[in-house]
Amino acid sequence: MTPATSESLLFSVFRMWPLRKMVWLTILVSVVLVLTLLHSWPTRVYTTVDVWQRPGPLLEKRAELNTKTISAHSFVSSLLARNGCVCEGESGGVNLPFAQLLFPRVSAHSLSTAFEASELDEIKRRRAKEYKSFQKRYTPADALIIAEANNPLQYPTQGVEMRPMKTVIIPGKTSDRNKHPVNITATLGTLNVAAEVDGVKVKGDGEMHMALSSSLLPNLNRQLQFVTYTNTLFHPNTADTVQLETEGRRAMFTIKIRHGVTPKLYNTGSKGEYNVSALVTIATKTFLRYDKLQDLIDSVRKYYPTVTIVIADDSENPKTVSGPYIEHYIMPFGKGWFAGRNLAVSQVTTKYFLWVDDDFFFTANTKLEKLVDVLEKTTLDLVGGAVREATGYTATFRQTISVEPGEEDGDCLHIRKGFHHVIQGFPNCVVTDGVINFFLARTDKVQQVGFDPRLDRVAHMEFFIDGLGSLHVGSCDDVIVSHASKIRLPWVSQSESDKAYTKFRYPSASSDATHTKNGILYFKNRFQCLTHN
Ligand SMILES: *[C@@H]1O[C@H](CO)[C@@H](O)[C@H](O)[C@H]1NC(C)=O
Ligand SMILES: *[C@@H]1O[C@H](CO)[C@@H](O)[C@H](O)[C@H]1NC(C)=O
Repeated sequence: MTPATSESLLFSVFRMWPLRKMVWLTILVSVVLVLTLLHSWPTRVYTTVDVWQRPGPLLEKRAELNTKTISAHSFVSSLLARNGCVCEGESGGVNLPFAQLLFPRVSAHSLSTAFEASELDEIKRRRAKEYKSFQKRYTPADALIIAEANNPLQYPTQGVEMRPMKTVIIPGKTSDRNKHPVNITATLGTLNVAAEVDGVKVKGDGEMHMALSSSLLPNLNRQLQFVTYTNTLFHPNTADTVQLETEGRRAMFTIKIRHGVTPKLYNTGSKGEYNVSALVTIATKTFLRYDKLQDLIDSVRKYYPTVTIVIADDSENPKTVSGPYIEHYIMPFGKGWFAGRNLAVSQVTTKYFLWVDDDFFFTANTKLEKLVDVLEKTTLDLVGGAVREATGYTATFRQTISVEPGEEDGDCLHIRKGFHHVIQGFPNCVVTDGVINFFLARTDKVQQVGFDPRLDRVAHMEFFIDGLGSLHVGSCDDVIVSHASKIRLPWVSQSESDKAYTKFRYPSASSDATHTKNGILYFKNRFQCLTHN
C-alpha cells in the first residue's frame, strides 16, 4: 500500500466514525497514556553517592595526630612499635641431631626469595599497588579524637588502637587548679610511666590502677603525657575501658585492642589495561544441562579465550567437560545449588569471580572490563549486571533488604524491589542490597559470607541476606549477558534433560525445598516473618 492510499483509507475511517465515538476514543487513549506514565514515573528521587576508594579527611587527620604524638615523645616511640620490622633468628648453637629439640632456636626466613631477582621489582610494585587499595578499604574510620571538654580532664574519646599484648601511650591532661590527684584505672592491662617527671608522685606504676599527684600542675600534666598502657590479657579483638578520675570528675575512654586485618592481595597481572584472564574466574554450577553449558563455554571463548572457567557439577551421570582453562569439579548427585556455588567459589584464585548460570551466554554486550572497573575504583564488593531474556526483556533484579528488630518471636525481614543510590561517576550503576545471579564479586569477601549448602534447590536472596552488613553491593545495567529461553513454548517439546531439570529446579510452594528455606530463615537468621514485593 502506498502512503497516499493509506492516508485516504484512514481519512475515510474517521469520516465514517460518529463524532461521539471519536471523543470517547480520545479520552480512552489519554487515560491509558497517563496511567502508563504514572506507572513508569519513579516514585522516589534517588540521590547519587560517592563510593570511590579514597581515604576520607578523618583518616588524614589521624595520621597527622599520630606523627605529632610520636615526635613529641620520640624517646618512647620504640614502645609504639611503628618502626619498620626485621625478622631476626638466633644465631650460634651446635648442629647436632636433636639440637633443635634440646636447644630450640628461633629461625628467620626471607620470603622474597620465592621470586627471581629480575622479577622482584615488578612483583613489589604490583603488591604495593594492591596493598594501597586494600588499606583504603580496610583502615578503620576511627580518627584519634581528643575531648577538650568543660571537664578538667582531657582524654581521647576514640581512636586509640593497639595490638594485643603491646604497649601504647595514652595521652591525658588535667586542668584542675586545685591539684587533686589523677587516678587512672584499666581492666585488661597495666599502666606505667614511661619517664618520670620531677615533683610528681606516682602510685601503682605497673598495676591496673595508678594515682598521680603533684603540687605543680605543669609537672603533673607533663607526667600525664608519659602514661603508657600495656595489654596483658590476650584477646584477638577486644577493647579496654580506661577510667580517668580526679576529685568529683570522671571520664572514660576505650582502647581498641586487636590484630590488624591480614591482607589477602591478588596478583592482578601487568600494568595498563585490565587483564580479565588474570583478574577474573568465571564460576558456574551445572546440573544435567550439558548442551547449554557448552553454549556458555563457546560464547565465553569468543570474547575471553584464556579466562579460567570453574564448573561445579552434581549431575547423576556426569559427562566430561574439558578444554583449556576449564576446571570441572564433580560432586555427589543432587548436592544442590548453593553447595555447587560454594565449591566453585572455593577454587577461585583470582581477585574476582563472575557468577553465571549454566544457561547464560556471552554476547558483545558482556563487557567484563566494565564491571572490573567498578570494583577496582569503588568500595563495592559485588556488582551485578543485567540478564537479557530471549524475549528481549532485560532484568537487573535489584532488591533492598531491611531487618526490623523484633521481640522473642524474631526479627522481621523486608525485601523490596529497588536500590539506595546512583553511583557517582557510574551513571548506569546503583548501590543496593541484592542483585541478579549474574555478578562480579571480590573472591575473598564472598568466601567469607559463603553459600549455605543446605539450600539445595531454589535459593538466591539467602546469600545476600547472609551478607547483609558485610557486603557492599552494586548493580549496573550496561553489562548484559543473555539467557537461553526459560519461557517454554508449548509447541516445542522439552528435551529429556530439560524435563528432569524442571522437575528438580522448580518445586511447588508446599514442597520440602520451600520448607527447608523457611526453616533456615527462621532458625539460622532468627527471622519470624518475611515481606516482599
Ligand atoms: C584515687 O586512688 C586512691 C588509691 O589509689 C584513692 O584513695 C582515691 O580516693 C582515689 N581518688 C579518686 C578521686 O577516685
Ligand atoms: C593476562 O593474564 C594471563 C594470566 O595471568 C597471562 O597468561 C597473560 O600473559 C596476561 N596478558 C597480558 C597481556 O598481560
